[in-house]
Amino acid sequence: MAKLLIEGGVPLSGDVPVSGAKNAVLPILAGALLADGVVRIGRVPHLQDVTTMMELLGRMGVELALDERLWIELDPTRLREHVAPYELVRTMRASILVLGPLLARWGRAVVSLPGGCAIGERPVDLHIKGLRALGAEVELSGGYIEARAERLSGTRIVMDLVTVTGTENLMMAATLARGTTIIENAAQEPEVVDLARFLKRLGARIEGEGSNTIIIEGVERLSGGEYEVLPDRIEAGTYLVAGAISGGRVKVTGVRPEHLDAVLLKLREAGAELAIGTDWIEVDMRGRRPRAVDLTTAPYPGFPTDMQAQFCALDAIAEGVGLIRETVFENRFMHAQELRRLGADIAVEGNTAIIRGVPRLSGAPIMATDLRASASLLLAGLVAEGTTVVDRIYHLDRGYERIEEKLARLGARIRRIR
Ligand code: UD1
Repeated sequence: MAKLLIEGGVPLSGDVPVSGAKNAVLPILAGALLADGVVRIGRVPHLQDVTTMMELLGRMGVELALDERLWIELDPTRLREHVAPYELVRTMRASILVLGPLLARWGRAVVSLPGGCAIGERPVDLHIKGLRALGAEVELSGGYIEARAERLSGTRIVMDLVTVTGTENLMMAATLARGTTIIENAAQEPEVVDLARFLKRLGARIEGEGSNTIIIEGVERLSGGEYEVLPDRIEAGTYLVAGAISGGRVKVTGVRPEHLDAVLLKLREAGAELAIGTDWIEVDMRGRRPRAVDLTTAPYPGFPTDMQAQFCALDAIAEGVGLIRETVFENRFMHAQELRRLGADIAVEGNTAIIRGVPRLSGAPIMATDLRASASLLLAGLVAEGTTVVDRIYHLDRGYERIEEKLARLGARIRRIR
């Protein structure tokens, strides 16, 4: 199995381009199922999760191709299957995103329940409840969600809690429903907004995306169309932390700085100097050791849970004590145990990690447990003395495009080994 070998201790320096956002491209690819024509998507990152989503769509009968600009071309008009099988859903929870579009456009969807997941329970009850409110018949049997509807009907849905893919599934389903759907307590993440913009490009009528109330006026059909995915704010944030943790200077390019407000605030508190342009951000630590920061994760525009693990790594070598509270997912501190193997002083009590910064970490073999946890281990490896070998990096390949190349470009001594 592939591993990453890192020789720590180099302050990173240079520019790194940011790829298209994983969490935007996945719902957008699923959303192509709604179209009545060919859809072309640009800035698609080369990630394992994207490959999984394309495999899923391909098995259903969506025709996939690359056009001359290397945009992905999807023709969903000759769909044969309405099934998302367990073997794919279990490798990627975001497969649940086909549920809403299949049902709305094709009247039928059979999607495996995702089951347990390394970072907590992660149920899909709100997706199901919302679809029932839109008039679908939904049954659970044999580990599958089986949903049917002649045509969905618009309604007012108040989400019990903020869910990103839940909001996306219901927004997609509502685009073809009869009448108006109002989603209250909707997720406000930039990726939800990106999906709404894509759907509007196909002819959907949506208002309020980016606020907590999204209003969707159902239409008869959606056409084909083109769309370019927004840049990945989590990837950008991860490279900025790489700059900060290593005491270096890193500029991320091709980003939307306004999507990173909560993360930039914490980098400043950690003592980083920031320069921000229209589509770039530069972090400069001037060789200093970071100061520990406290933070609490929350739905957007709060501090993203997908950046929590990376800040645990930062606090691990910072001056002072950092309190990191996770409120979005239970059980999202698996990286704490592995970071301890590098010498970090982390205690986890309930949903809070108490991190006492140590002056140095030392290299060791460690194991990745989920996507963002893997990123935090890699970051810690960049500053640990000696050699760190990170095992199970397939988690990283799910969400970071060519991560070792991008880090090597910044001067990191890193390579992939078998
Ligand atoms: C999405 C992101 C993921 C990110 C997360 C939170 C994608 C593909 N993934 O995941 O990277 O970490 O948002 O920002 O976009 N919940 C329920 N019932 C439901 C749905 C969710 O109880 O039906 C709970 C979850 O267990 C969790 C919380 O709601 O505690 C938020 O989860 P949610 O926003 O749904 O996460 P995802 O959409 O799966």
